[in-house]
Amino acid sequence: MTSLKKIIITVDGWSSCGKSTMARQLAKKLQYIFIDSGAMYRAITLYFIRNEVRLDDATQVVHALQQIKLSFHLNAENGNNEIWLNGENVETFIREMRVAEKVSEVAAIREVREFAVKQQQLIGKDKGIVMDGRDIGTAVFPGAELKIFMTADNEVRVMRRFKELVAKNPSIQMEDVRSNLAQRDHMDSNREVSPLRKADDAIVLDNSHMTPEEQLQLALQWAYEKMTA
Ligand code: DC
Repeated sequence: MTSLKKIIITVDGWSSCGKSTMARQLAKKLQYIFIDSGAMYRAITLYFIRNEVRLDDATQVVHALQQIKLSFHLNAENGNNEIWLNGENVETFIREMRVAEKVSEVAAIREVREFAVKQQQLIGKDKGIVMDGRDIGTAVFPGAELKIFMTADNEVRVMRRFKELVAKNPSIQMEDVRSNLAQRDHMDSNREVSPLRKADDAIVLDNSHMTPEEQLQLALQWAYEKMTA
């Protein structure tokens, strides 16, 4: 039997195109660690909101970052790797709209990115990891063996996010979801520090017309090709 090489798999792409779902399933199949790097930026944003940190004040931002401890813990009930902020499971709070509205602004701050990227690189140092985000294949693990860049039609993404949010908050408006997505895409791909872009060696996966199972099979095939290379 050929032995399988441990690799790093990066999954980058636009908001709400199913990166986390695919990356989580892929990690499960390969028995790899799954890290949702967006959860880290969201948890930092939650801390900033709760503590009224002024984003235009570098001293406040740096001081706040020194108070933040992020960690991922496996939830035995649902099998997910969930994010904890200073000893509190914040997985639910970080998905709220008030966090979504601010996270791109927070994620554009250089000190915040340095803080998050350092931890992401540490988590991935032994490989055997699938990490999803915006800059994982370009800035966090530029040497990753498999890089996937995910995309989907705009309206497909709006609909997916709307369904996810309306289940938790029935009063949510489709138009608000649409404008939040457009705004985040714009900010994420136009910021100065590591903007969202496809790495030159990334494979594009457009899942507009694919079932989750189809995209998983495709990604698994790519992963095995790299693991046996
Ligand atoms: O994947 P997500 O929607 O949970 O990410 C939340 C925000 O965090 C997103 O708008 C951009 C930012 N982000 C980032 O800048 N870099 C990453 N590696 C992951 C997320």
